[in-house]
Amino acid sequence: MAYSVRKLTDFSAPSLDAASSELASALSQASAGIQSEAEFKIFRDYWMGRKGGVLTHLNDLWLKASPGPNKRDVGQRVNELKKKVEQAVESTLARIQTGESAGKLAAESLDITLPGIRRPIGAEHPVIKTMNEIVRVFRNLGYSIEEGPEIETDFYNFESLNFPPNHPARDTQDTIFIAGQDSKPQRDRLLLRTHTSPVQIRTMQKMKPPVRVVCPGKVHRNDAADATHSPVFHQVEGLAVDTNITFCDLKGTVDHAMKALFGSSVKTRFYPSFFPFTEPSADVQISCIFCDGKGVRDGGPCRNCKASGWIELLGCGMVDPNVYGFVDYDAAKISGFAFGMGVERIAILKYGVDDIQLFYHGDVRFLEQFS
Ligand code: DAH
Repeated sequence: MAYSVRKLTDFSAPSLDAASSELASALSQASAGIQSEAEFKIFRDYWMGRKGGVLTHLNDLWLKASPGPNKRDVGQRVNELKKKVEQAVESTLARIQTGESAGKLAAESLDITLPGIRRPIGAEHPVIKTMNEIVRVFRNLGYSIEEGPEIETDFYNFESLNFPPNHPARDTQDTIFIAGQDSKPQRDRLLLRTHTSPVQIRTMQKMKPPVRVVCPGKVHRNDAADATHSPVFHQVEGLAVDTNITFCDLKGTVDHAMKALFGSSVKTRFYPSFFPFTEPSADVQISCIFCDGKGVRDGGPCRNCKASGWIELLGCGMVDPNVYGFVDYDAAKISGFAFGMGVERIAILKYGVDDIQLFYHGDVRFLEQFS
């Protein structure tokens, strides 16, 4: 700020005019150079500060110093200059305030007026969705949920389920064994569980009857992948043990579950079968949901049920008394039923999927149809 108020000796009008315009041009030059609030404060104090400000000097060096006859004229000019200074200070402040907020906005990295980033919400995988649906049907009947490990011992996967070592029933479940287990006793050797049935044993080991559980989970078999097989798939197991549980309870429960899953017009049929851990055992068939059990569709044989009108869906039976021997249950006092179903198989039927592999490819175009 180079300007400072000149001491006047000549108080004539032309001299005052010259001194006033000198001040005015210094003022506008100084105002134009102000860029920040800090600079503004210095500017304001320089021109208007009570002690040593330009206006104070004007008062002292011009007005007070002027001789009597010039006082009126000088007073008027000093007042005008005062107004000019006040206006300049005011407008300078206004300019840097709006300028600063605009500058701040421009420098801001966050524009809160922009729409947010939408994160697409994923959907349940159709296999998990179906598994949850099956579990829900049984939860509504008062069943609780149990889970077990996917890496099992031979004991839980086979022996305690009444598959003795070397029994041919083991051949029905082509098993993936963990390598390097040969030094262990056979019952301790590890394998990938071939079914969820070992969770029955684990549950009965930790709970006394009454037991009502469903056990959802992943299982593994050494099967080649094709349209109906996958080496990894899912099952839901069920177990109910109490006093006086009969085959009628099993039939009623399974029939209800199938109607809940496929619609109330679906019929069930129990077909004699064999599982080592149930006696008697049955395969459950439901009336074909594609041809309404008629076996014919669109004037030809129904492909889905091979014209039989029935589709096989799950295995079940009354828990074999031998199994109770492995878990310290008294087979003379209690009885129970068990069932096991493949989740993918049910999903395939419910959604009309023609290749099980579609569930595992992770192709969003397939998966989003179930969202
Ligand atoms: N675990 C059998 C399998 O994977 C299915 C099964 C059949 C489970 C009968 C059961 C049952 O609980 O009672 O082939």
